Amino acid sequence: MSPRPPSFEYDPFSYEIHEDPYPTYTRLREEAPAYYNEKRDFWALSRFEDVWAAFADWQTFSSAGGVSLEDTAAISPDMVITMDPPRQTKIRGLVARALTPRRVARLEPKVREIVTCHVDRLAEVGQADLITDLGQLLPMEVIAAFVGVPEEDHTQIRTWTEEMLHREPGSSDVPEAGVKAFLALDDYFRRDLGRRRENPGDDLVSGLLDAEIDGERLSDGEIVGFLFLLALAGAETTTKLIGNMAVNLSRFPDQRAKLLADESLMPSAVEEALRFDTSTQLMCRTLTRDVEMHGCTMPAGKKVALIIAAGNHDPREFERAEVFDIERKIQRILSFGHGSHFCVGASLARLETRVTFEELHRRLPGYEVDRGACVRVHNTNVRGFSSIPIRW
Ligand code: HEM
Repeated sequence: MSPRPPSFEYDPFSYEIHEDPYPTYTRLREEAPAYYNEKRDFWALSRFEDVWAAFADWQTFSSAGGVSLEDTAAISPDMVITMDPPRQTKIRGLVARALTPRRVARLEPKVREIVTCHVDRLAEVGQADLITDLGQLLPMEVIAAFVGVPEEDHTQIRTWTEEMLHREPGSSDVPEAGVKAFLALDDYFRRDLGRRRENPGDDLVSGLLDAEIDGERLSDGEIVGFLFLLALAGAETTTKLIGNMAVNLSRFPDQRAKLLADESLMPSAVEEALRFDTSTQLMCRTLTRDVEMHGCTMPAGKKVALIIAAGNHDPREFERAEVFDIERKIQRILSFGHGSHFCVGASLARLETRVTFEELHRRLPGYEVDRGACVRVHNTNVRGFSSIPIRW
């Protein structure tokens, strides 16, 4: 069966889609639930149930061909996120055991101390940038503490990861600055491995250097890949979620007022922020066999975008799906994936976001977001801002 030609285009590389993808997601779900983009040669699934089921079926929807629609060959280290079980399961276990909900809960006092320190510093001035002065500091500090990266290098690592994320309009290639940033970060991590090998500590990297899977040590490439993943998947996505949540609370002042009046709503507000405007819009898979869906045959070997953010707005799963409602009772959510690659940092991301808004609301309750002055990041997987001016 050939795909039903849709009467509209979904191009995740276009800056207009980055600005507001949600009307297009509605058309995808309703008019082309198995969508084929001929120009860029990929398929897309957008209904909640389809995306959920595809995440669970790694034998058919493989991660080994990469998880981005972009041509990221120039900046792709050996990452667990682009492997299939069983090796992926074993390697991720080495890090996942440090990030179980119980272990993460023990980090709360430390996370609160970091946030309080940053917010106190901000309280002395009347304006700031929610991303550069707060949202991007905490996730990097927490990850860096795990990995053992010294504080003086945090800014440089953040700059490199930002450069790796940026894409030019309509282009599926990584710009030269992004490739340079990748090479610089790769070199940084590899030199760090050498130092850690000579002087092991009790940090995550020393643990990975020491770990064995099926009697074999991890390769340097696999360890470096993990560090990339933590810097990109761990820090950037949390920063962008914090920013998106602030912007949506500003767009919907009744919801913000409700949250300011009742802090016990914070966990469900974070969950709704994850559903309504998540920082990871889609993850890609490669088909290992032909798959029939919604009257179309998606052929083996083709890339399929699993559009998390479209599934999170599916009215088949969520009542009044287009309404931002911080009291919503959410049973299932796609924002952290599902199945074998389910995000190992989900508890940490939730904790960091909740504590950030608790402290922000306690100490600077009158802060206002200058929505017209926000600067958007342009990337097919990640949605969010690199700058969000606020004043109080
Ligand atoms: C709001 C913040 C975050 C979002 C939206 C997010 C989203 C995701 C998603 C959707 C996946 C699944 C990828 C796939 O199926 O292909 C994933 C995987 C992953 N995430 Fe997160 N993440 C966040 C925060 C974090 C944090 C804080 C960490 C680390 C401390 C982290 C580490 C990882 C790792 C290592 C994987 C790969 C797991 C695997 O391949 O087995 N993430 N994340």
